[in-house]
Amino acid sequence: MAGQHEGFLGDVYGAKDRASVADLYDKWATTYDAEMAKAGYRHPSIALALLARHLPKGAAPLLDAGAGTGLIGDWLAIMGYPRVEALDISEGMLAVARAKGCYSAYHCLALGGQLPFADGHFAGVVSAGVFTTGHVGPEGLAELVRICARGGVIVLTVKGTLWDGGFSAHIAKDKRVTLAELTEPYVSMPGEAATTPSRGVVLRVV
Ligand SMILES: C[S@@+](CC[C@H](N)C(=O)[O-])C[C@H]1O[C@@H](n2cnc3c(N)ncnc32)[C@H](O)[C@@H]1O
Repeated sequence: MAGQHEGFLGDVYGAKDRASVADLYDKWATTYDAEMAKAGYRHPSIALALLARHLPKGAAPLLDAGAGTGLIGDWLAIMGYPRVEALDISEGMLAVARAKGCYSAYHCLALGGQLPFADGHFAGVVSAGVFTTGHVGPEGLAELVRICARGGVIVLTVKGTLWDGGFSAHIAKDKRVTLAELTEPYVSMPGEAATTPSRGVVLRVV
């Protein structure tokens, strides 16, 4: 994937470690919304639709994992999810989200390691555009499952190459979740050349 996309997108897909990912997104933060709008970015709308289908209105608190500039946060409030916390590795992206004021808390933390939340703390988790090339792999899932309440849902978008390359098998082995819904592959950025299709994934914590 790296090299097929120009600018920040190509750079983040090719990032070698978490510090470089954070640094690249810090630099991208102020132009991210405009560039993603131009590319016809679809992950937030698909994640939102899946969440609203599987989690009742009013469920709280929710976690937006890899919230970025808050593209989903804005809409979650409109859709009747009153308390959503943002987590992201990039202070720059979180600063843009903070300026929109659409989350009840902002956590600068990395997925892939241990998270400072109690077991079952969140009624649901949503993560759009994060389980993708050069970002977070299945190793980021265990903690999201731990901090999501039983009966709650975890909505993810997952790049197809990751899904087919072990993510789906990883989920099948985890007895703490069931696969509640899997979308057909879709292109997340129709305006970008050579975008590998992704899947929308809904997991229910049992
Ligand atoms: C493509 S953006 C998606 C942002 C937002 N969810 C959206 O759909 O606009 C990916 C986000 O994941 C964050 N990210 C990447 N790796 C991460 C990690 N290990 N832990 C937490 N956030 C991470 C980036 O900083 C960035 O904000």
